[in-house]
Amino acid sequence: MNILMIGAGRMAEAFISGLREQKNENMIITVTNHTDQDRRRALVEKYGIQEANDWRLVVGEADVIISAAPPSSHERLFQDLSPLLNGQLVITVAAGIDTTFMQAHLPEGTPVCWIMPNTAAQLQASMSTFVCGHFVSSEHRLVIEMILAAIGDYEELTEEQVHDLTAVTGSAPAFLYLFCESLEKAAVRYGVSPEQARKLVTKMVAGSAAMLKSGHAPSELREQVTTPGGSTAAGLMVLEEANFSELIGAAVKATNEHARGRKN
Ligand SMILES: NC(=O)c1ccc[n+]([C@@H]2O[C@H](COP(=O)([O-])OP(=O)(O)OC[C@H]3O[C@@H](n4cnc5c(N)ncnc54)[C@H](OP(=O)(O)O)[C@@H]3O)[C@@H](O)[C@H]2O)c1
Repeated sequence: MNILMIGAGRMAEAFISGLREQKNENMIITVTNHTDQDRRRALVEKYGIQEANDWRLVVGEADVIISAAPPSSHERLFQDLSPLLNGQLVITVAAGIDTTFMQAHLPEGTPVCWIMPNTAAQLQASMSTFVCGHFVSSEHRLVIEMILAAIGDYEELTEEQVHDLTAVTGSAPAFLYLFCESLEKAAVRYGVSPEQARKLVTKMVAGSAAMLKSGHAPSELREQVTTPGGSTAAGLMVLEEANFSELIGAAVKATNEHARGRKN
C-alpha cells in the first residue's frame, strides 16, 4: 500500500501518526506540501516516511492519495492531478470538498471519498464522518476504514448529512470548550485558583464523557444527578428558562448556514 499525503499540516500529521501506529510494514507513506520544507522534513524524521518535492512525479506509484491541503487549493489540485491518475483512490479531508465536487473535477470513474475528521484526530480520538463516491469498491472501502481507524472512530453518512453534521462533530467541540470556559470563570469566582478551576472542570468533563461512553443516555445521566426540587434542578431550570436546547439547535443551524454560504 503506497499512500501519497498531500499537505503536511496538523491534520496530515494526525493521519500519518495514526497510520504509523498501525505498524503495517507493507505501507509506504510519502508526504508532500506546498512550500514549508522544514515542516516536511520534520515529519519525515519523526515518522520514518518518504517525502516528495514535486508530488506530480510520484502520483503514478501511489495506490491512495489523501489530500489534507486547504479547501481553496482543491480546484487547482484536482486539475493537476486528473491527467496523472490511473484509477487511484482519492480522499480529501478538506471542509466543503464533497464527493459531488470531487467527481465533477476528477476523471470519470475515479473512486473518491470525503472524510470530515475533527480536531481530536491529533489524539487518535476523532469522531469522523465520511461519504464514498459512486466508484468506491468493497476493497476501497476496507482501505478507507483502515485510514479512518488511524484517527479514531467513524460513521458513514450521506453527503448531505456529512455537510449538516459537521456542526455537531466538527464545530461543537468549540461549543463545549466555551461551556468549560464559563464553568472555569464561575469556579474562580468562588475563590479557587485558575489551575484548580481547570482541573475541576477538565476532570468533570472527562468523567461525564466516560459515563456517556459506557452507554448511558444523556437524559438518563441527567436524571440520575437531578433530585426533583433539588439544587441541580434549580440550576437546570435557569438553563431551561433560557431555552438551552433551542440555543444549541440555533448554534448548529447557524454553523451549517455559514458553511454553505447561505442564510435561510
Ligand atoms: N484541523 C482540523 O481540525 C480539521 C478538521 C476537519 C478538516 N480539516 C481540513 O484539513 C485540511 C488541513 O487542515 P490543517 O489544520 O492540517 O491545516 P494546516 O496545518 O494549515 O496545513 C495545511 C497543509 O496544506 C499544505 N498546502 C497548502 N496548499 C497546498 C497545495 N497547493 N499543495 C500541496 N499542499 C498544500 C500546506 O503546506 P505549506 O505549509 O507548505 O503551505 C500545509 O502543509 C483543511 O482542508 C481543513 O479543511 C481540518
